[in-house]
Amino acid sequence: MANLVISSSLNPQSRSRLLALIAFKTLKNIDVSVDWLDLADHSIPLCDGDSTYKNSKVKELREKIQNAKGILFAVPIYNYDVNAAAKNLIELTGDAWANKVVGFLCAAGGKGSYMSVMNLANSLMLDFRCLIIPRFVYSTGEDFEEGEVTDPNVGDRVSELAKELDRICMALSKQP
Ligand SMILES: Cc1cc2nc3c(=O)[nH]c(=O)nc-3n(C[C@H](O)[C@H](O)[C@H](O)COP(=O)(O)O)c2cc1C
Repeated sequence: MANLVISSSLNPQSRSRLLALIAFKTLKNIDVSVDWLDLADHSIPLCDGDSTYKNSKVKELREKIQNAKGILFAVPIYNYDVNAAAKNLIELTGDAWANKVVGFLCAAGGKGSYMSVMNLANSLMLDFRCLIIPRFVYSTGEDFEEGEVTDPNVGDRVSELAKELDRICMALSKQP
């Protein structure tokens, strides 16, 4: 089973997408099978809890998620939460997330929103029994300049998280 890196920012100059790309390259470099999903490349409806589940693009994204064992979810922090696009994806794809190993790569404006991803983490644990990796990458505007990650610690932490995802997924796949 492949892993999946999801970039959920719709901003063309997204910082969390830079984190997602580092994670994707790290997994490729250690020969881990990994797929890529950038929500900015897909036009999907807002979840209405009804007919939107039948949307063909939604079905396509759902399948990508279902096919993954581990998922690294790159999210922008908006209003002390993940952005609406990230939450909408989960509302639309629901139980495709069941039993996934999930890690978070966060881009925020400042340090004060550090806990913002926890609502989503709780929901993934409680609704879909996801195993949340207790090693988040939380970055702020200070860690980037001119479309690049400038703080080497951030790049290192993203790579560590990607390797941790692989380590946990491999360990779980060896379970009888
Ligand atoms: C609508 C909106 C709400 C935001 N709310 C917060 C917030 O609550 N806390 C924070 O630290 N940064 C906040 N920010 C700053 C973003 O987290 C920051 O710009 C980050 O880089 C967004 O991720 P992205 O570059 O991947 O899109 C907000 C930005 C926008 C546009």
